[in-house]
Amino acid sequence: MNIVLLGPPGAGKGTLAKTLTKEFKIAHISTGDMLREAVKKGADIGKTAKKYMDRGELVPDDIVVSIVAARVSGEDLKNGFLLDGFPRNEKQADRLDNSLNETGKKLDLVLYLKTSQATSIKRLSGRIVCVKCDANFHLTNMPPRRKGVCDYCAGKLIQRDDDREATVKRRLTVYESQTRSLIDYYKQKGILREVSGDLDIEQLFKSAKMLFEREGLS
Ligand code: AP5
Repeated sequence: MNIVLLGPPGAGKGTLAKTLTKEFKIAHISTGDMLREAVKKGADIGKTAKKYMDRGELVPDDIVVSIVAARVSGEDLKNGFLLDGFPRNEKQADRLDNSLNETGKKLDLVLYLKTSQATSIKRLSGRIVCVKCDANFHLTNMPPRRKGVCDYCAGKLIQRDDDREATVKRRLTVYESQTRSLIDYYKQKGILREVSGDLDIEQLFKSAKMLFEREGLS
C-alpha cells in the first residue's frame, strides 16, 4: 500500500507515520527527516535546504523531488510506503505521479489530518527532539521519563530550530498558501480520506488503522 500523509505542521504526521509503518510493515519516507539528515551530514543539499528550513519556507522542488524520486523507485519497498511531508504543492504531486508511473506504482490513498491551528501551535511549541537519535517527545503530551533526556539513547532533548514562534507562524502561512490546495487536488482524484488530527495519539492511530482496513488496504 502506498500512502501520503497530508496535514499542517504539527498535525502529528511524523508520530502517526511511525506507528502506522510499524503496524503495516511499510517504509516511512519523511522529507523533513531526510533533509535534516542532509543538514547534519553537512551535505551540499543540506546546506542549501537549511537556509529555507530555518525561515520556515519550502525547500526548492528540484531538491526535494530528486531525493523522493530516488527513494520511491527503490526495490526495497515491496510492501509499500508512507510519504510524510511530501508532496507539498501541486508540482511535487505531479512529479510524484510521474515517478510512480515510471516504476508501475500508484498512490492508494491520501490521509488528510484535519487539524486546528490551535492544536498545531500547541504541539509545535511543546515538541522536544533528541540531538542524537532524533526521537520526538512533547513537554506535556508525550513527556520523556527524565526531564531533558531521551528515553531511548539518553541524548539531550532540545527544541527544533524551526519550532521557534516566528518560524512556526511562517510555516503555517506557507502551508495555507502552498500546500492546502492539495486537499482539493487529491479529492478530485478520489483518493483523499480525512481523519481528525486533533485526536490524541492513540485515538488517531485507531481511526487511521480502521480507515485503512475499511479501504481494504491492510
Ligand atoms: P517537516 O519536518 O516535514 O515539518 P512539518 O510538515 O512542518 O511537520 P512537523 O514535523 O513539524 O510536524 P508533524 O505533523 O510531523 O508532527 P509531529 O508528529 O512531529 O519539514 C520541515 C521543513 O523541511 C519544512 O518546513 C520545509 O522547509 C522542509 N521540507 C520538508 N518537506 C518538504 C517538501 N516536500 N518540500 C519542500 N520543503 C520541505 O508532532 C508534533 C508534536 O506533537 C510532537 O511533540 C508529538 O509528540 C506531539 N504529537 C503528535 N501527535 C500527537 C497527537 N495526536 N496528540 C497529541 N500530541 C501529539
